[in-house]
Amino acid sequence: MSSDEKLTVAQVGLGYWGRNLARNFDDLTDLRWLCDASAERQEEFAERYPDARVTGDFAEVLADDDVDAVVIATPVPTHHPLAKAALEAGKHVFVEKPPAMRVAEMEELVGLAEAGGLVLMPGHLLLYHPGVQKLKELVDSGELGDVLVVYGNRQNLGVIRKDENALWSLGVHDLSVILLLIQEEIVEASAHGHAFLTEGVEDVVFCYLRFASGKIAHMHLSWLDPHKMRRLTVVGRDKMAVFDDMELAHKVTVYDKAPEQASDSYGEWRTRTGDTFSPKISNAEPLKLECQHFIRLVSDGWNGREMRDGLEVVRALELLTESLNGS
Ligand SMILES: NC(=O)c1ccc[n+]([C@@H]2O[C@H](COP(=O)([O-])OP(=O)(O)OC[C@H]3O[C@@H](n4cnc5c(N)ncnc54)[C@H](O)[C@@H]3O)[C@@H](O)[C@H]2O)c1
Repeated sequence: MSSDEKLTVAQVGLGYWGRNLARNFDDLTDLRWLCDASAERQEEFAERYPDARVTGDFAEVLADDDVDAVVIATPVPTHHPLAKAALEAGKHVFVEKPPAMRVAEMEELVGLAEAGGLVLMPGHLLLYHPGVQKLKELVDSGELGDVLVVYGNRQNLGVIRKDENALWSLGVHDLSVILLLIQEEIVEASAHGHAFLTEGVEDVVFCYLRFASGKIAHMHLSWLDPHKMRRLTVVGRDKMAVFDDMELAHKVTVYDKAPEQASDSYGEWRTRTGDTFSPKISNAEPLKLECQHFIRLVSDGWNGREMRDGLEVVRALELLTESLNGS
């Protein structure tokens, strides 16, 4: 593909989330194929996107040499086989999170992408949210001081999934951000939870992570909760910051607040409280930014950071799942 040509894209999976991806890729690329196992979805999308070809046969999509990239928005257990087939067919791949349910499977995908010089980008939407990018900027600039604790709240009495538990469905978002902010090896991972509604599918999960330097992280993940929360809190040694996706105007708040020992206090701790402020956050649609990022990776060449970060997320999910299953 030359820089002034549009990327030719095929999308598989046209459900609840797939329709948002199709809208963006239709705006930004030449959306050539739409594929879904359901005849009803095929009919609906054929009407909505008359310029695209619609099929239920993924092999037909992969056989088209004009297709540069494949977007995968099917249920999680199908991600690995579909992404593997697309990479083997020489296509760049954008795959919804997480691309695989096992570290070994994710390593296989990374190996295929590396061998073929192909982009493999997991759809970790939150990483493209301007509010999360502001948190990253606050951490990297040193404004918060040394980061001590990061914790996430992702709760809601909402869509109750039957094929993914709260860790895999909700936790994957927070994990991607926690690992972005604390770029260290996980040395301890534990998770406790319970399946109250569907046997074997935990609706409520509490996770704890400890990193190599002693920083810690926590996640409360649940769809059995009265509060709708989409919040990440970063406790730095000098300041603290909160990203709250439920807030319309103040997505990020920085608290100039920290414990300190005055020189005349004989070692006692007290709290220093200064200003609280909300930096301006762009209201650009994170999903559009994410799709644009994928297109840039394909057209400008790329170093593989996104897929290696995705591998670390799957590694953390696997560690937490082992703990959850033993609890
Ligand atoms: N990034 C986000 O914020 C976000 C939000 C919601 C969902 N998701 C992810 O998007 C993916 C899809 O979720 P959803 O809620 O849209 O699910 P969904 O069940 O609404 O849609 C899945 C679609 O895939 C089709 N499908 C299943 N297997 C297929 C196959 N082998 N070949 C072709 N089509 C197949 C189904 O017919 C269905 O239309 C999941 O991985 C989910 O984790 C991401």
